[in-house]
Amino acid sequence: MGLSNKELPKLGFLYMDYVLRFFDYSNFKGWPNKIETVTYHWGKDKDRFIQEVKDKKIDVLIGNIPATAYETFREIARELPHVRFIPSLDTQFSNKSKENVTRFAWKYNLPIPKTYIYYNRENGDKFLKKTEYPKIVKKSYGPSNYGGYFVHKVDSYAEAKKLYDKKKYHPMYFQDFVPMEADIRVMLIGHKPVCAFWRRAPEGEWLTNTSQGGSMDYMDVPKNVLDLAVRVSKAANAEYWACDVAYGKDGKVRILECATAFAAFPYIRDWIGQYLMWSLSEGRFRKPHMPMFNWEELGKISPDLLRTMRHITFGKYNASYDGSYFGNKKKMYGEGEYYLHELDSAYKMFDVKERTFEEWPSEKWNYQDRFALKNIKSMKVPALKKEEAPIPSGDEASLAIEISEDQLEILLLSVKGLTEKKLKKILNFYNHEELINILEMDPRALENVKGIKIKMVEKITAVWDEYKTK
Ligand SMILES: Nc1ncnc2c1ncn2[C@@H]1O[C@H](COP(=O)(O)OP(=O)(O)O)[C@@H](O)[C@H]1O
Ligand SMILES: [Mg+2]
Repeated sequence: MGLSNKELPKLGFLYMDYVLRFFDYSNFKGWPNKIETVTYHWGKDKDRFIQEVKDKKIDVLIGNIPATAYETFREIARELPHVRFIPSLDTQFSNKSKENVTRFAWKYNLPIPKTYIYYNRENGDKFLKKTEYPKIVKKSYGPSNYGGYFVHKVDSYAEAKKLYDKKKYHPMYFQDFVPMEADIRVMLIGHKPVCAFWRRAPEGEWLTNTSQGGSMDYMDVPKNVLDLAVRVSKAANAEYWACDVAYGKDGKVRILECATAFAAFPYIRDWIGQYLMWSLSEGRFRKPHMPMFNWEELGKISPDLLRTMRHITFGKYNASYDGSYFGNKKKMYGEGEYYLHELDSAYKMFDVKERTFEEWPSEKWNYQDRFALKNIKSMKVPALKKEEAPIPSGDEASLAIEISEDQLEILLLSVKGLTEKKLKKILNFYNHEELINILEMDPRALENVKGIKIKMVEKITAVWDEYKTK
């Protein structure tokens, strides 16, 4: 049963310079053939990349595409019609921006906080004058997996206006404020939940991101949350998926974020690899089995240990074997009490198949480039390039901000607490151009420098913002 070595598709990993790799060979343990890698170098690398994929005769290209390369890869995918991208570019539509998440949710009638998107700033401003507060203002596009760094609560028109004058986020993207208990991250493989945890805000705060000091726990994630996550994964036709669900004080669930790119322990990436091996081999490799609520048990293990655990496998439920943990355990769930293996048949792992049409063609859905802010120059803030590596270096960086090395150093030294010594450390880590890109795109990357903490990053960002608006 299943495909022979020769019949198996040729796999390749899609890598990008400067971007963390989600998969490597070790996640596809047991795959008998060579797995190729193709690395995208940014800049004018499209044609070379396409040629390399062709030369290596790759059938399936596996990997996440960051927001800034998304549109380029839609073009690349069109020129490689016989290559299956996993996840597909349509599935990765939500990776590009919050706007895309919203449009995806609107199309499939998935619940989200009420969201407003304005490309016309005058109209946006008019609306902000008459609407109700609080509102949550977000940066739609750019590095966003930094947990609330570009998310702001505004309590009045005056605050909203001040924020937009300063930040110039384009498009204007904001939502009604939803009071919430917590938000819940659900990870799915083949539409089956394989991990889920609560993220609660610290006392008295409204942001629930753990990166801002909130807490995290794996127990009793409610049924309506898992059900919503499954619906979303199916709508996206996602081989693997993560969904952040807001659990409102009103008891309702709403999607906050969803994407194929997310942080996951290695054992979860192993599971995805094993799942893809099963799916791509037409059943030659074993379908992995992840029992429902396994995360409640694995979550008891210290994260430091979990980070090192690999290739976790579970036996299937077997009626005649009464020593099996997941077979004997009952759980209160939704309205009733169930054996976990009963929940396994309610939450099946599906074999996600390739679609043959383009659901989100850029000609229609790339609003950002179609409606770029025309007077962005006069706002002294560079438009995000259509494609800009997260941390480009050397001559790949093309920057719209004019600042000399000396000026930059003087500016940084004007930050309270930023000593010559610290500046030296920063400059040993990042060169001048990288630094400007980081300040623009991803200031928290400064935390990579030893001794630079979030408080310092905030001070630096404030000084930087002020410099730009001068
Ligand atoms: N509409 C909203 N109402 C209330 N809180 C929100 C709303 N949107 C986001 N938040 C809070 O802000 C956090 C970050 O928002 P999110 O959209 O996930 O952006 P990020 O990309 O920064 O993670 C969420 O985890 C949640 O705690
Ligand atoms: Mg988030």
